[in-house]
Amino acid sequence: QTIHLEDYRPTDFVLERVDLTFELDPKETKVEARLIFHRREGVSPAAPLVLDGDELRMTGLLLDQVEISPTLFEATDDTLTIHGLPETAPFEVTVTTLLSPETNTKLMGLYRTNNVYCTQCEAEGFRRITYFPDRPDVLAVYTVNIIADKATAPLLLSNGNYLGGADMGDGRHFAAWFDPHPKPSYLFALVAGDLGVVEDTFTTASGRTVALRIYVEHGKEAGASYAMDALKRSMKWDEEVFGREYDLDIFMIVAVSDFNMGAMENKGLNVFNDKYVLADPETATDADYANIEAIIAHEYFHNWTGNRITCRDWFQLCLKEGLTVYRDHEFSADMRSRAVKRVAEVRHLKSEQFPEDAGPLAHPVRPTKYREINNFYTTTVYEKGSEVTRMIATLLGRDLFKRGMDLYFDRHDGQAVTIEDFVACFEDASGRNLKQFSLWYHQAGTPLVTASGSYDAEKRTFSLSLEQMVPPTPGQSTKEPMHIPLRLGLLLEDGSEAKAATVSGADLTEDVIHLTKRKQTVLFTGIPSRPVPSLNRGFSAPINLHIEQSAEDRALIARHEIDLFARWQALNAIALDNLVAATTQARSGLPVTCDGALVSGLIAAAADDRLEPAFRSQALALPSESDIAREIGSDNDPDAIHAGRQQILAGVAAAGRDTFTRLADDMASSGPFSPDATSAGRRALRNSALSQLVYGDKGPERAAEAFRAANNMTDLSLALTLLAHRFPDAKETAEALAAFKQRFADNALVIDKWFAIQATIPGAGTLDRVKTLMADPLFNGNNPNRVRSLVGTFAFSNPTGFNRADGEGYRFLARQILDIDPRNPQLAARILTSMRSWRSLEEVRAGHARNALTEIAGAASLSADVSDIVDRMLES
Ligand code: ARG
Ligand code: ZN
Repeated sequence: QTIHLEDYRPTDFVLERVDLTFELDPKETKVEARLIFHRREGVSPAAPLVLDGDELRMTGLLLDQVEISPTLFEATDDTLTIHGLPETAPFEVTVTTLLSPETNTKLMGLYRTNNVYCTQCEAEGFRRITYFPDRPDVLAVYTVNIIADKATAPLLLSNGNYLGGADMGDGRHFAAWFDPHPKPSYLFALVAGDLGVVEDTFTTASGRTVALRIYVEHGKEAGASYAMDALKRSMKWDEEVFGREYDLDIFMIVAVSDFNMGAMENKGLNVFNDKYVLADPETATDADYANIEAIIAHEYFHNWTGNRITCRDWFQLCLKEGLTVYRDHEFSADMRSRAVKRVAEVRHLKSEQFPEDAGPLAHPVRPTKYREINNFYTTTVYEKGSEVTRMIATLLGRDLFKRGMDLYFDRHDGQAVTIEDFVACFEDASGRNLKQFSLWYHQAGTPLVTASGSYDAEKRTFSLSLEQMVPPTPGQSTKEPMHIPLRLGLLLEDGSEAKAATVSGADLTEDVIHLTKRKQTVLFTGIPSRPVPSLNRGFSAPINLHIEQSAEDRALIARHEIDLFARWQALNAIALDNLVAATTQARSGLPVTCDGALVSGLIAAAADDRLEPAFRSQALALPSESDIAREIGSDNDPDAIHAGRQQILAGVAAAGRDTFTRLADDMASSGPFSPDATSAGRRALRNSALSQLVYGDKGPERAAEAFRAANNMTDLSLALTLLAHRFPDAKETAEALAAFKQRFADNALVIDKWFAIQATIPGAGTLDRVKTLMADPLFNGNNPNRVRSLVGTFAFSNPTGFNRADGEGYRFLARQILDIDPRNPQLAARILTSMRSWRSLEEVRAGHARNALTEIAGAASLSADVSDIVDRMLES
């Protein structure tokens, strides 16, 4: 069943108040929901009340405390319909349901994880707790009473402020919570169990004291101190940069080990995948620290962008997600290095969102239809949504963007709104017309901009011709031209920037030209010599850009651009050109050649002590095999891509040996471990240099030595990865894997890394390894992190292993999907999206992939989640 945006209409009944009482029990939890409604003005007196439900067992239904006659209601699998309700007066419906948290393997609604009761309600999990108008535009004030066994659940938490509690004398106790802020049901949360806590306080700008609590498993409290620090920094940053203060007496975070996603912004009670809370030097990598900082911030920022102002319906998901990702990106940029952060964002966008936008799952940032909303928590909604917000900031400039945001907070606080409402705030605050710009929300597909320049020495003019094309995507065969803000600079031979006397052919604000037509020619006058255009500085627009440019011109940008991101971009473009050529050579059995400009450019960037180490490490990282596949676009042979890339790597490793040896030394740290960005950058550069050296090695000794010497998880996991990927069959590798497993056997998050490192060993043999690992006692098919670390990582991040020419990788995945789906459909559907680029494979592999997808599609009783994905992947 497909839901359409155009079918939106408000509910017939207004929900005024919600009173929930939970009597918790692992097998039989009783929920009593008292809901006060009144009929909306103008709604027919005959209209029934229709509530949502999902796998519910209802044992009682009262209207104003009196049992409702069976002739007046009807309960089906997914709805409860009640007739004969008062015409105008408010009334109270009391629904009693019985739940079994222990057997709830979908991890939606109320479930148990490690003896802790917890909930996940976004998007449509609340209807698994009670019958309810489970949609984001129904905002109500909640009171929650929790009753539970005192011994096993000393801790009873819900949203809002604590009202009070008491012992019940029978081994049970209760607690009551009240959340004064009207909220939609997807922000409801309940947690109960026996957990350790880390406490702190934060004083807001207006002087209120907020209690901060992070709950983790007993014994893991020390691991939450970095998360607590990140939380306090987030609260302060949101006050300073967006003027947003926290609005309750207490803010709580609970870390759980079974969770389908990263984290959830429930009002006042965020629930996190423990992977994004727990960190110490021995077990967390620098990347883990950075993720924790970003996700703690993200969920906290939702308090305003998502909770105080929420979505009218789920089509508007990017209203909260795109905006909140933009806010967490800006936060991380302020906490760390802005340029390095931008490079990492763009790498992520290109490797995850661009393939989605180019394949069968492509959809607009603001979709107009869906079958299963869980499948729309995508990189398009999140990351492209963030880029669209960033472009608004670019178009308006800092001050007008801020004015627009302030207007948004002012005008819509307490409301459930749309993307149109959001955009209108920026139009009203700036006086600009953003109609054409809004196409970014509505047209799917990554725009392609083709550029070419020509210099007229006599007239001293430079003309830049630009043409945009938005490719067709499912359901959208033709597209309108978009408003593309393109930041650019013209570099002269000596690396300085040319200042044009006049610019015509496009609107220009500072260094941004505005492309609004299909074809545009921009003329720059007063240019003293042939310039090298550096286009899309800072990645001002999420586009593919094609420009014929020599490696020498690109190298000039890589050396001299004032925008560091543009330097990285230029180096990356040289590398990509080479890697695409290397693929062709490898595929036809020719020797692989490597451009001198690439090798010298990479080594020069890595060696440049004026640049920060984290940036130099990014510069040294070649595009991934999937980046190359995306660049080639069709008829892909993952083995040829791998072979060509290995040869280029070997060339760089050989030419840069001296530099890398020096860097591995220079960047070595003494002193105690610190997770700060500068120290992390030094470790990153050192490990990049070490990786290059190991590529050039004949034996595993150096990598094995690095493994022995490592005194933090960043270095240790990198050394283990080098051993496993470069020398998979060496005795040293087997020993290191065994030692690592033994040392961390009781730390699930580290064991996830152990699985992931082995799942990404290149080559056809890894499938057998993965199958063997699935039989390991440490593998657990019910824990989402564990399944993702082995099966997910293999399918998403092992191009040669997964895309075996004989199709066995796809057959394996199909069996896994069918196995996981009945237990946890969301997890199954998510992992299945690893096949989103199957149509760009060469025909033999594509044939195998189609067969595997067809096998899934034909299976009996698929979940809505998996059948939605598989059907879209197979459509035309
Ligand atoms: N709102 C959460 C976040 O991004 C994610 C919830 C994901 N929900 C889902 N059904 N996939 O912070
Ligand atoms: Zn979010």
